[in-house]
Amino acid sequence: MENRFEPKSIIVTGGAGFIGSNFAHWVIDNQPDVHVTVLDALTYAGNLDNLSGLPEDRFTFVHGNICDADLLDEIVPSSDAIVHFAAESHNDNSISDPAPFIRTNVEGTFQLLEAARKNGTRFHHVSTDEVYGDLALDDPVKFTEDSPYFPSSPYSSSKAASDMLVRAWNRTYGLDVTISNCSNNYGPRQHIEKFIPRQITNILCGIRPKLYGDGKNVRDWIHTEDHSSAVWEILTKGRSGETYLIGADGEKNNIDVLRAILDRMGKQSDDFDWVRDRPGHDRRYAIDSTKLQRELGWRPKHTDFSEGLDDTIAWYTDNESWWKDAKDAVEAKYAAQGQ
Ligand code: NAD
Ligand code: TYD
Repeated sequence: MENRFEPKSIIVTGGAGFIGSNFAHWVIDNQPDVHVTVLDALTYAGNLDNLSGLPEDRFTFVHGNICDADLLDEIVPSSDAIVHFAAESHNDNSISDPAPFIRTNVEGTFQLLEAARKNGTRFHHVSTDEVYGDLALDDPVKFTEDSPYFPSSPYSSSKAASDMLVRAWNRTYGLDVTISNCSNNYGPRQHIEKFIPRQITNILCGIRPKLYGDGKNVRDWIHTEDHSSAVWEILTKGRSGETYLIGADGEKNNIDVLRAILDRMGKQSDDFDWVRDRPGHDRRYAIDSTKLQRELGWRPKHTDFSEGLDDTIAWYTDNESWWKDAKDAVEAKYAAQGQ
């Protein structure tokens, strides 16, 4: 495609977290001419181990907060693009304490946009399909780029607010931006507070998995590596000011996902506990990624969910030291919430 943007040096915010670290590895592995600077505050969700093995001559780690304008003034001028993953990312946490979500997701995105504006830096904003609210289980419709914003939780509304800031900086200041709204990711290095790794590590610890509500809520699963390749396509080929939805036709309800995990890990299909539902729990998410596929030619590689799930179970089984120390605190917090 003509007018391909070819950055030599990018800042990846939130690159010590789940999706950001997978993206950093993907870029190092697939784009040999690009230097990656990860900017990450190392909150409970950030882990330097996620970046181990990245080559010193192509990778820099900066420990800092995206709300720190002085720090951004130091590092943004020497970069060609900012790929913005950093966020407070967990719905349940946003319900118990929304404040950090507003600070990082709204104020942090604002500070990054200002730094990008001062330096004329290309900006890609990583967002979520949850900004569109939810769909009914029997609705044939999926989310598209034209769906109205109806966020339900403090998390999704803070992400919706950040999307709006990005759009405004494009329209008012002409900042070169793109936005992607992706569906639920799975794969290695996802924090064990999230659905799939929580259940896998529960089973590994002899704890019964926990299912919210009636278990019929649907999520549209995509392997994190496919999210990475899509973000790269949008960063380098996407049209300025545009939004692209990222999804891989992976709709499944929670009980089916849990039963697949139980089956693969040698448990009976009813070896789990029903627990209190999440307040405001979105019923169904589903992405129509036609625009991304038609305009930019992107295709997912991980189209077999069972295979991706097997690899994910194997990763948590083989990397117990990565998650073990966090497990008791995560489960104690859930237990206090009746979940
Ligand atoms: P994560 O919680 O695993 O990682 C977030 C990272 O951001 C951590 O490394 C954390 O230390 C860092 N961070 C948090 N606050 C920061 C701050 N103020 N300054 C600097 N760094 C900070 O999250 P994730 O699941 O990898 O999600 C990454 C992005 O992708 C988020 O923007 C999220 O909204 C979006 N997203 C996630 C999903 C999903 O399924 N997890 C789906 C679609 C979009
Ligand atoms: P989650 O991984 O928190 O992602 P999101 O809220 O962004 O979709 O949850 C995925 C689905 O799994 C969601 O419908 C809530 C449900 N869930 C459970 O049933 N049990 C759990 O222990 C967790 C963490 C989530």
